[in-house]
Amino acid sequence: MVRFSLNGVETEIAPDDMLLTRLREGLGKTATKVGCEIGRCGACTVLRDGVAINACLVMGWQLEGAEICTIDGLETLPAGQLLIKAMEIENGFQCGYCAPGVMMSLAGLLSAENTPTDAMIEEALEGNICRCTGYHSILRGARLARDMMKETHL
Ligand code: FES
Ligand code: FES
Repeated sequence: MVRFSLNGVETEIAPDDMLLTRLREGLGKTATKVGCEIGRCGACTVLRDGVAINACLVMGWQLEGAEICTIDGLETLPAGQLLIKAMEIENGFQCGYCAPGVMMSLAGLLSAENTPTDAMIEEALEGNICRCTGYHSILRGARLARDMMKETHL
């Protein structure tokens, strides 16, 4: 078995198990969503060592020593609380299915860059498909989170 950290807790995965399958079916962590399973929709986005990745494209053998943060760990990240608050204020989501992936993509961006441009925000969300919002409310929420971060000097 391969050992990695999941939201700060040491966890195991078989080398030939997909991270997304391990999360949802093995560990019951269904907050991370499943969509295309081929890296196209972003529903399964998690952070690996702070960088947004698709959990459907990562196998267990690639995870030795990795630190994985999922939507379940979002609130522990510096930008997590602000992202949640900003999306609530802007009513960022409708059905919410894309939300875990979108939030983790934005958390990755805001961890690396606390004052991203609008273009950087849009680029960070290129891999996340939302079937409901037309993206406007999501982008408003993301920009508000960025502005709140600037104000709080996070
Ligand atoms: S389920 Fe992983 S990108 Fe769509
Ligand atoms: S809010 Fe429904 S898919 Fe994005």
